[in-house]
Order: sequence, then structure tokens, then C-alpha cells
Amino acid sequence: MTGAKKPWGGRFEKSPGKFLEEFGASLPVDKRMWAEDIRGSIAHARMLANQRIISETDADAIEAGLSQIYREIRDGSFEFRIADEDIHMAIERTLTERIGPAGGRLHTARSRNDQVALDTRLYAKRRAIELLGALAKIRETLLGLAVAHDDAVMPGYTHLQRAQPVLFSHHLLAYFWMLSRDATRVRHAYEAADVMPLGSAALAGTTFPIDRGFVADRLGFAEVSANSMDSVSDRDFLLDLTYACTVTMIHLSRLCEELILWSAEEFGFVRMDDTYSTGSSIMPQKKNPDFAELTRGKTGRVVGDLVGLLTVLKGLPLAYNKDMQEDKEGAFDAIDTTLDCLVAVDGMLSTIGIDTERMRAAAHGGFMAATDLADYLVGTGMPFRDAHEVVGRLVLTLERKGRTLQDLTPDEFAAVDPAFGEDAARAVDIDAVVARRVSEGGTGGDAVAVQLTRCRDVLAADTTWLEALAE
Ligand code: ARG
Repeated sequence: MTGAKKPWGGRFEKSPGKFLEEFGASLPVDKRMWAEDIRGSIAHARMLANQRIISETDADAIEAGLSQIYREIRDGSFEFRIADEDIHMAIERTLTERIGPAGGRLHTARSRNDQVALDTRLYAKRRAIELLGALAKIRETLLGLAVAHDDAVMPGYTHLQRAQPVLFSHHLLAYFWMLSRDATRVRHAYEAADVMPLGSAALAGTTFPIDRGFVADRLGFAEVSANSMDSVSDRDFLLDLTYACTVTMIHLSRLCEELILWSAEEFGFVRMDDTYSTGSSIMPQKKNPDFAELTRGKTGRVVGDLVGLLTVLKGLPLAYNKDMQEDKEGAFDAIDTTLDCLVAVDGMLSTIGIDTERMRAAAHGGFMAATDLADYLVGTGMPFRDAHEVVGRLVLTLERKGRTLQDLTPDEFAAVDPAFGEDAARAVDIDAVVARRVSEGGTGGDAVAVQLTRCRDVLAADTTWLEALAE
């Protein structure tokens, strides 16, 4: 259905009119902000009445009408019409149709430009809290896995070549820290959104004696925007939130890449639960880590959402421009996708099977104790360069024979170089190699225990931050 007569009605009366109506509408996207729009309008109406700009009776009628619309949208009985263009118009038109002139007074001293900024900020704050909840949950899961497998050793890699053995828990906790930084970024985005734009009145402020502080307090904003032109054209908070989602997705994608590799037979470190795997329609034996792959793939979309938003905003003159209507679809998609992926990856991790024996066996390959063996020789007084040479030659010989450092007998060690004593075998013991790395932030069990305490402190601080918001 097409709406009221448009300025171009004469020329595009039928299908072109309908086409442009749909082309110009944001309702299918911004109707998700219906609750925010209604909350904002009630606060605005109350402020107008307090300031004697409208009567209390009008404000009461507005609030009652909006509360009714709230219930209808919540219950699914509200009829959305594309002709309304956006959620702001849909609600205001319905209200005015129902309550008459009082509805027409609601829009005093505000514009849709401030309204969309307000709604989007309220919405971004709400979703940021959801993201923080999901980021806390997945970090709990990582912590739980790390604690449950605190003595499992595995190869640590650089260039995807075996480098030095590490604790599996240490490897997992690397992701804990990535996701903690993501939580910090989401919090920053929340704070960026926590500024109240209503009352900018399109771009220049208003002649009415409004009380913006009242509206900010009532809606739970930390402050009121300082510049009416900036406040209607600022979408930095949405960029911040989309960026936080993008980096979260990059981290999830890297984790998924490792889960995919580790579940390949060549590694065999983990087994994805059946619920997080799919089969092949032709190869009966297949069990594919589809959801990890999909998460990795969806990262591309979220990166695209960020680039899209950056590109929309680039080159816009002050203040509001209709281009900005394109801000929400990508940002909402980024938030939805990131939340879904956090839930999916959390589920994968919670159900994953860990083959610590395969990890341990792999940790014995690849001559990963070579650095420690060279360090051992340095301890006997040999210059590091010579020690490196001696161990390098030993590795070459063993590799040709298909043997490992751990197979060597004390006599064989002594034959390689007289500097090797009885205790050389201890230098290449994989558990000992790991345990020795007790520098702050290292993979040694004692250092990882300290790290776990730091992880718990970070999670507790994040929870305290969220609780403070609820007060
Ligand atoms: N639907 C618009 C948006 O999402 C709301 C603001 C429209 N303002 C205007 N003057 N056309 O950006």
C-alpha cells in the first residue's frame, strides 16, 4: 500500500511510487528499535509536560497511547506499514490516529534525526550488554577447559611448524585474553553510545525551553551531547561496536581454524561433538566441523559490515544525511552474527573431546626440546653459538635415523659431546621443558597457575562493571 501523496506523486503515481516508497523505507530494519523508540518518546513527552511546553493531560494521553502500542508490538498484533517509512513515523502516525492532536504535539522540539540517533544509541547499549554476557560465558568455558586439562602438553607452533612444547591450557588461555580485549572494546563502544542526543532538533537546537538532562536521566544516559550538529551526525559508537564485533569475529575465526586443524586426522588433538558436526551426502565416513568453518566464513560478512559503515560515513557533510539510514543494517548484522558465533563456538568448546595422549605424542616429535638442550650446554660453559651448532648436528643425525632426542641414552649423549653429563636426558624431558618456563606469562605450570588467577580477576572485574550498570 502506498502512503499519503508524495511530492513526486504526479509522475510516479503507481508502481514507481511504490518502488521508491520501499526503496526509501528503513522500517524493515529499524523496527527492531521499537521499544527504544517508545521509551524515548515517553521520556520526551514527560519532559515537555514538566517544562510546560505541552499539558500534563496531553503527556498522559501520549504515554497511555504509546504504552498500548508497546503492548501490541510486543504481542505481535501491531500492523507495520511500509508507507510509514520508518519506526519513528509508524509509531507516531498510529499514536496520532488514535489520540488526536495530543499525538501531534509529541514531536515538539525534536526531529527524527535526533530520534534515530537516540534509538540507535539505546539499542547499541542494550546489544553491547548482550555481547558482554556472551563474551563472559565463552571465557568461563575456556577457563573451565584450561583447568580441566592443566597438565596436558602439546606442541606450540610458529609458522605452523612445531617449535616448543606448551601446556594446552596455556594455548587456550591465549584466546581468553583475546576475548577479554574484545570485552574491553565492547565496553568502550557502550560508553561511546552512552550520550543522549535528543533535543538537537534536527541540527541547530530549539527555541523551546527543554530539559535535556531530565531525558538523559530518565533514559539512563551518562551525559547529554554537547553539540547538536555532532549529535545528529555522530555514528562513532556504531563504528566502535561494529569494530568490536569484527575483532571478536577475527578471534573466533582463528580459534575455529585451530579447532578445524586439530580435528583433522593429521592432528587428532580434538573431536568435535556430533552435535557440532555434519556428515557428507556421499562419503559415509565423513564428520565435518561445519559450524567452526561457518564461523570462520561469517567473519567475512562482519568485516564487510564494518567496511560498509565506514564507507557510508566517509565524506558526509554535516549534519544528518539520508545516507546514514544505511548505518543500521550492517551494524545489526554484525551484532547478530557475532552473538550467534559466540554461542556456537561456546557450544563447540563445551562439548569438545580432547585427546591429550595425541597431543603428548605430538609434543615428543619435532625435536622441540632442542632449545633447552642447547641451553643445557650453555650451562656447562659452552658459548651459545657452539651449543646451537652441536644440537643442530645432533638433530640432523637423529632425523635421518627416525629417532628423537628423548630416545638418547647417556652414553649416546656423551658420544655426541663430552659436555653432556648424566642429567642431559632431563634437559629434553618434555614435561620438564614445559615446567621450566616459569617467566611471567610463560607456559610453565606455575606461571599458568598465576595466569589463571589473573584470568579470574579480569572476569570478576567485567562482572562488577556490568553489575554497576544495573544499579
Ligand atoms: N529512517 C531514518 C534513518 O534511519 C530516520 C531519520 C530520517 N530523517 C530524515 N530527515 N529523513 O536514518
